[in-house]
Amino acid sequence: MNKYYLFLSILFLLTLISCEKEQMSLSVTSPNESNQIVFSLSKEGQPTYLITHNNKKIIDTSYLSFDIKDLPSLKSNFKIVSSTTGNADETWQMPWGEQLDVRNNYNELLIKLEEQSETKRKLNIHFKVFDDGVGFRFEFPKQDNLDEILITDENTEFNLTGDHKVWWIPGDWDIYEHLYSETKFSEIDALSKRDHPNLAATYIPENAVNTPVTMKTDDGLYLSFHEADLTNYAAMTLKVDNKSLRMLSELVGSKRLNGKAKVELPFNTPWRTIQIAEKAGDLIESKMILNLNDPNEIGDVSYFTPMKYVGIWWEMHIGKSTWDMEGSQDMNTWTTGESGGSRHGATTENAKKYIDFASQNGIKGLLVEGWNTGWDKWLASADDREGLFDFMTPYDDYNFDEVMAYAKEKGVEVIMHHETSAAPLTYEKQMDVAYDFMKANEINSVKTGYVGEIIPKGEYHHGQWMVNHYHKVLEETAKKKIAVNAHEPIKGTGKRRTYPNAISREGLRGQEFNAWATDGGNPPNHLPTVAFTRMLAGPIDFTPGAFNIKFDEYKKDNQVNTTLAHQLALYVVIYSPIQMACDLPEHYMLNGKIHPAFQFIADVAVDWQQTKVLDAEVGDYVTIARQEKGSNNWFVGGITDENERTASLSFDFLEEGKTYNASIYKDGLDSHWNDNPQIYEIENLDITKDTKLDIKLASGGGFAISIIEKK
Ligand code: NOJ
Ligand code: CA
Repeated sequence: MNKYYLFLSILFLLTLISCEKEQMSLSVTSPNESNQIVFSLSKEGQPTYLITHNNKKIIDTSYLSFDIKDLPSLKSNFKIVSSTTGNADETWQMPWGEQLDVRNNYNELLIKLEEQSETKRKLNIHFKVFDDGVGFRFEFPKQDNLDEILITDENTEFNLTGDHKVWWIPGDWDIYEHLYSETKFSEIDALSKRDHPNLAATYIPENAVNTPVTMKTDDGLYLSFHEADLTNYAAMTLKVDNKSLRMLSELVGSKRLNGKAKVELPFNTPWRTIQIAEKAGDLIESKMILNLNDPNEIGDVSYFTPMKYVGIWWEMHIGKSTWDMEGSQDMNTWTTGESGGSRHGATTENAKKYIDFASQNGIKGLLVEGWNTGWDKWLASADDREGLFDFMTPYDDYNFDEVMAYAKEKGVEVIMHHETSAAPLTYEKQMDVAYDFMKANEINSVKTGYVGEIIPKGEYHHGQWMVNHYHKVLEETAKKKIAVNAHEPIKGTGKRRTYPNAISREGLRGQEFNAWATDGGNPPNHLPTVAFTRMLAGPIDFTPGAFNIKFDEYKKDNQVNTTLAHQLALYVVIYSPIQMACDLPEHYMLNGKIHPAFQFIADVAVDWQQTKVLDAEVGDYVTIARQEKGSNNWFVGGITDENERTASLSFDFLEEGKTYNASIYKDGLDSHWNDNPQIYEIENLDITKDTKLDIKLASGGGFAISIIEKK
């Protein structure tokens, strides 16, 4: 690790722009001087900032303040007590990730403010400016007149300079599982997203968006707004003022707290972040969000191995089998109905079938959902879910020990499943024993789930109380050396740097919606949008790999809305250190043999040395090349929306003088996401860094290439 700090002269970093009696501006620029933040106090002594990129305003003067219960707002009448600057340029390594080495290079400015009134309350604002964006946070120092406070509103403005094109999901306090809309900022209408047929928990109180929210200006500049290091605080949504083209932070609330966040001083808020990029692909390559988090605090996480996994999972979503033994759970309506006769998925025999498939086809992991008791009531007991699941007791037809022994014999690693049914208190009571039970069985990772409205009532998935619960899970699992893949999670804010046992999460409309959504599932432009929005928050457990695209045998009205080659490409495009091969073992067989296209899933890496976005446009298409960690092999994935197009590839990222064997998995001539989704072609050829290739992508299509060094 190469770590060094540079301290430049204050004069260089800090320009005193004006210093009139009551108005003072301070600024700080990024290392390459492209981005600049200017801080000033208004005439009333209120903190403001603005941001420029190449000397052009991209965020106009924006005001900052806090409302606090039973106290006057922290808003105006401030004076600058002091300001300090600093600078860092260090390189750190990820234990697993999109790349091994991460450079953290920024200039910073810390401004200490104090009220001029009698209370003399203090507030610091800390800016860090990178070449790929800016971050700032509020730091409440320890002080005499403030101790524990209940923040009723954080009022951080983002004053836009134009009516940008925006890719957004509504500011739902409970779930991120919405389709992205692409509209002008002035046309954002989050309230129109309230009637979502398939959500077990949703609350959209006003016209706000969730983050990351990504925009493109008329000048072709890309901006993405998010937050980093969300700890002991409520998640931030952004309230939309369609007319004045302004966003205002709206923290997720709590009816129980009657406010947004209760904090004890000293306290730092999460970083408010704006990624700034001239190319869409640079948004994906940026590591600014991670850099704004603290270094690893839990030490070695080698108990977790990045891997691909299969699971008793998709078969429940498409209705072949059920989680419960009785067979009465209906995923289409999220209710318990008549028993359909026992079609329990998690049986000893079925688990062995998946273990055999995994061990024969180069897949390391196995997830088994519906193994424990409680599922027979999980959808029906909307108000009575405490104590429903116990995370210890297998169903009668699932011989836990026998499955574990069989998996061990075949070299397959079992992933635990804990569906909490959004009853975190029940989970917290049992987690200690549940984690010990896992470790006693050599299980090193857990998929958690939080389907439904949070109990206790009045809390939301994205509020401070749940942020603290998700954090507690990370802490407790870290102590026991367990890695976590959370579904219905809090959004990623780069905490995986500090807690690298946070391996992946859902937090979007995953593949499962294709199995049961009554609105037609995820359209072909879903993932070409997700790559530039949700994916900026970190790894995604999307669960790709559907080969039986229409699954008419089980559900005539649902299907996956991509081609098979698009599904393969997702192993490269969508980053996660765990990647599911979601389909049923029998769907990966063709004429009694493993499906030829499965070879790509068997071969593709899950841990990377470096990542390069080759070509991209938000919402339309994206091509990504990733080098396998510790090898010279590369994998490339490209996907398109509903428009067919040709990708012109050059391989100049390969090493000079080397020859590689490339296996190209692509759409067939007649492929189409709806009319002919399973047609594909495989081509093998030798390539070098000078090779140029054109590959045709069908409507809703894609391609995947494995590039193996010839020795
Ligand atoms: C929702 C999760 O996203 C899905 O993966 C899981 O199968 C169900 N909940 C049941 O826990
Ligand atoms: Ca989900």
